[in-house]
Amino acid sequence: MRHGANAAIVGRKLDRLTQAAKELSEAIGQECIPTQADVRSPAQLKEAVAKTIAKFGRIDYVICGAAGNFLVPISGMSENAFQTVVEIDTIGSFNTIKATLDYVRASKGAYIHVSSTLHYKGMPFQAHVSAAKAGVDALSAVLAVEEGPNGVRSNVIAPGPIQGTEGIDRIIPKREASNPARNGYPSGREGTVGDIGNATIFLFSDAAAYITGQVLPVDGGAMHLQSTFLPYPQSVIDPRSVMHMIKPKM
Ligand code: COA
Repeated sequence: MRHGANAAIVGRKLDRLTQAAKELSEAIGQECIPTQADVRSPAQLKEAVAKTIAKFGRIDYVICGAAGNFLVPISGMSENAFQTVVEIDTIGSFNTIKATLDYVRASKGAYIHVSSTLHYKGMPFQAHVSAAKAGVDALSAVLAVEEGPNGVRSNVIAPGPIQGTEGIDRIIPKREASNPARNGYPSGREGTVGDIGNATIFLFSDAAAYITGQVLPVDGGAMHLQSTFLPYPQSVIDPRSVMHMIKPKM
């Protein structure tokens, strides 16, 4: 929005969306509207798109970023838990593409899908998210190939741990001064929301006009390190012994 875009933000909870839209509009001076939808509902997404078109008349850029996450081993994960995350991340991205594609084609715009680096290695307790995000990466590549001739680009941003987000609170062990999971990045620091914003601006800009079908990890190099932030193999042999290190139930 700081670069001149108006925005429609999508989420399940109207009160949080309305507050966020108000704060963004006031802080930046561009218009931001709340459009309530659960990405698992094609009908709700179509309504959100209709509201966006009624307000702004066009859609140039779409960020497919809905995600669910919690730490749980396969042995303790219900079928519904796995399905829920795939429905939010992978099917939700597909539903978002379906709801917006005609408009993005019309403006020869671009998509960014927010994936992850979790599935590049075998990250314990993340089978659901790893499968879901691998699907997101594949979806983006197919979209890039199918829609390239229509002038539409599609890329993936794969964030590493980003400070101050719900994701990092849920899947990274609690902050400890000596915790290498928090401090041991090749970049020497955790990622920030601004790091993801900069990658987004780049991929949507003309500077990335010849980049499509790609996955851009924005993780300070962390993907080249170990797969798990928890003690291994202790955490997979006895997950309960590391429960004190993480936020959600297992
Ligand atoms: N551990 C194990 N299973 C869990 C779980 C956890 N921490 N949280 C949810 N589940 C299971 C539920 O038990 C349920 O399975 P069941 O019916 O077999 O019991 C299934 O997942 C669906 O959970 P439910 O709470 O009914 O689904 P929901 O659609 O309301 O919410 C999430 C699912 C993932 C969206 C919810 O956990 C959430 O709000 N997460 C916050 C968003 C988030 O994770 N953001 C960060 C992304 S990196």
